[in-house]
Amino acid sequence: MRKSAFFLTLALVSGAFTGSALADENAELVIEGETLVTKTAAPAHLKDNLDEIYSGWKFRSSETQALQLDDFDNPAFVFIDSAMDMYQQVEGSAEKSCQSCHENVEDFKGLRTKMPRVVDGKVQTMEDQINKCRTEQMGAEALKYSGGEMTGLVALIGLQSRGMPMSVKIDGDAKPFWEKGKEIYYTRHGQLDMSCASCHEDNYGNSIRADHLSQGQLNGFPTYRLKNAKLNAVHSRLFGCIRDVRAEPYKVGSDEFRALELYVSSRGNGLSVETPSVRN
Ligand code: HEC
Ligand code: HEC
Repeated sequence: MRKSAFFLTLALVSGAFTGSALADENAELVIEGETLVTKTAAPAHLKDNLDEIYSGWKFRSSETQALQLDDFDNPAFVFIDSAMDMYQQVEGSAEKSCQSCHENVEDFKGLRTKMPRVVDGKVQTMEDQINKCRTEQMGAEALKYSGGEMTGLVALIGLQSRGMPMSVKIDGDAKPFWEKGKEIYYTRHGQLDMSCASCHEDNYGNSIRADHLSQGQLNGFPTYRLKNAKLNAVHSRLFGCIRDVRAEPYKVGSDEFRALELYVSSRGNGLSVETPSVRN
């Protein structure tokens, strides 16, 4: 009821949404012989709102989907390759590279599924961890939070967990941040008076301005977007979605976006890590 009432209001007000289903309900994401989980039961904390959760991959056209099936076709791998060079590059006053201390990048397997996490009473994103190592361990400058070099490294580390289920912790010391992120998620913003849920919970599967709405999951980030032909960081996407409802977005790297990232990531608990995914 709620969903259709909302849909009608918007359609009348702005003509924004039009109905359409998934391109191909049964399409499967198989990479190097491994089938990734793109659809599964919603995590317990979402049970009142959603029965099932879906990867954004499910909502893309078959042409876009195909780019993610093979790492040779996936344009994100150009950036993963440069990130690997950077991983091995000595920088900073300690004259070390990432590799000096973390010999095999494969050892980060599993980490992406648990990020962001709470460390010392603060939300720590992958970006935060990398900058911590750069400033404290290497004596190097922090990288720009959502810049190309940082996003490449985040993708390189994330890739090591590809295929593993997202399992972000939401209880214990994560609880207050998770609550804060949830509040932001359901708050209506901007001139269009819409929350994240207005689009990604109440209207996924519908189309808006020729784009097909997904559940707004983060399991594929960083994600290569055809729109700007580069890897896109989580906070850049959150920024864009808030700007699109003509609201004043929080800052990239802000505590609000850290909390929101923690909450939104937990909505995808159970979906496979797809890093680096390909989207419009
Ligand atoms: C001088 C050694 C050193 C260097 C160089 C270094 N790190 Fe670290 N790294 C550590 C230590 C020690 C920890 C654990 C404590 C902490 O979080 O600071 C760590 C933790 C991490 C973690 C979290 C691992 C986990 O399982 O929780 C990641 C990811 C990471 N480093 C990435 C990097 C990257 C990327 C670089 C290069 C930009 C880098 N590190 C450079 C020493 C180093
Ligand atoms: C006016 C509708 C609208 C609102 C409100 C909105 N988004 Fe989006 N969002 C989109 C569209 C359109 C896309 C691109 C297609 C898709 O994946 O849904 C998108 C994509 C995303 C993605 C990328 C999904 C993927 O698989 O790559 C995430 C994550 C996301 N949104 C999160 C959010 C969050 C968090 C909020 C609230 C701060 C929000 N969105 C608010 C329309 C919206």
